Amino acid sequence: MLPALLVAGVLAACAAWTLVRFMRADADLTLLSKRQPPLSAWRGKVVWIVGASQGMGEALALHWAAAGARLILSSRSLEKLQVVHARCCLHVAAHDVVLLPLDLVADGDGLERAAAAAFEAFGGAGVDYLVHNAGASQHAAVEDTSVDVAAALLRLNLQGPLALARAALPHMVAQGRGQHVVVASMSAVVPSPGQSVYAAAKSGLRAYFASMATELAERGVGATLCCPGPLATGLDGKPRMVYGANGLVTQAATGMSKKRVSTARAAELITRAAYHCLDECWIANHPVLLLGYIMQYVPWLGMLVLKRVGPARARALRDGKSGYDMAALLNEKGSKQG
Ligand SMILES: NC(=O)c1ccc[n+]([C@@H]2O[C@H](COP(=O)([O-])OP(=O)(O)OC[C@H]3O[C@@H](n4cnc5c(N)ncnc54)[C@H](OP(=O)(O)O)[C@@H]3O)[C@@H](O)[C@H]2O)c1
Repeated sequence: MLPALLVAGVLAACAAWTLVRFMRADADLTLLSKRQPPLSAWRGKVVWIVGASQGMGEALALHWAAAGARLILSSRSLEKLQVVHARCCLHVAAHDVVLLPLDLVADGDGLERAAAAAFEAFGGAGVDYLVHNAGASQHAAVEDTSVDVAAALLRLNLQGPLALARAALPHMVAQGRGQHVVVASMSAVVPSPGQSVYAAAKSGLRAYFASMATELAERGVGATLCCPGPLATGLDGKPRMVYGANGLVTQAATGMSKKRVSTARAAELITRAAYHCLDECWIANHPVLLLGYIMQYVPWLGMLVLKRVGPARARALRDGKSGYDMAALLNEKGSKQG
């Protein structure tokens, strides 16, 4: 009798502890159970970040610079990259940060040339981590999104990273190592009203890189898919890129609400996932994190909730309001029914 009570007590304590951890979590519990790598783990590693000129990419650059990694920073704007370069140089020597401007969606063989330059950037040291961070979000309902806008979103968020990964592939295979770190989105896990094409692109990344990792498992090439929920970007005065109904617009600072994860914290978690070569990780506060688990394990329930929120979100976006305020969206639906 006593041992049974003891076992029940231990199980109850474990369940309570897991529940508390989950309620306080800002990432999936697998990622949070991994230890943060020591800073020395990154010394000398070569990290190529595409989309490094602002926002999440800049935060990743600063995190890895502080850890002593060697960096290759890419995006379209050399001017913006130079500002990030200067900030990185507070932590590492100037010659440890190489700028390699590129346009992910330009035609021609630009990405092949960029990949060749990146793998030679540090005297043939190659590239250990290739971070696919460039991207732009979408805030527009399905019926307001033209085919042209959808094509532009898919080109930047899906085709671009695929083309770059393809360009890097022979170099990674030749050096026998290389980890793709793909900054996708929780919209790849949780259906995202108002972000249909963006979600399709990020889901495409999830499928492509998972398939690639299975094909190349014996040759040292892997992929870590990182799915952030809402991040607090734009606080540095650099508005993020978002596609609205009529094409590309910029969105000013999103503010540091409790629901958003800071880019510094997201950088810490993304680098942790990359270090442990996790296949996938989720980085989000509740309720997005909770919805991720519900969609994974009880998808019908997730769809029930999201079908309640979705129409109100589409209306909010059309009216130029925030589509993120879940309580307001549920209330709107409730008051309409009432
Ligand atoms: N912010 C969020 O709440 C959030 C949430 C989940 C996932 N994410 C994902 O996180 C990533 C970064 O988001 P963010 O909010 O930091 O975005 P952001 O501030 O708009 O930055 C986008 C980055 O991509 C680069 N870029 C854009 N078009 C490019 C192109 N054609 N070729 C090369 N680089 C290009 C931009 O640099 P240039 O302008 O110099 O080219 C910039 O460095 C994106 O993939 C996004 O989908 C963001």
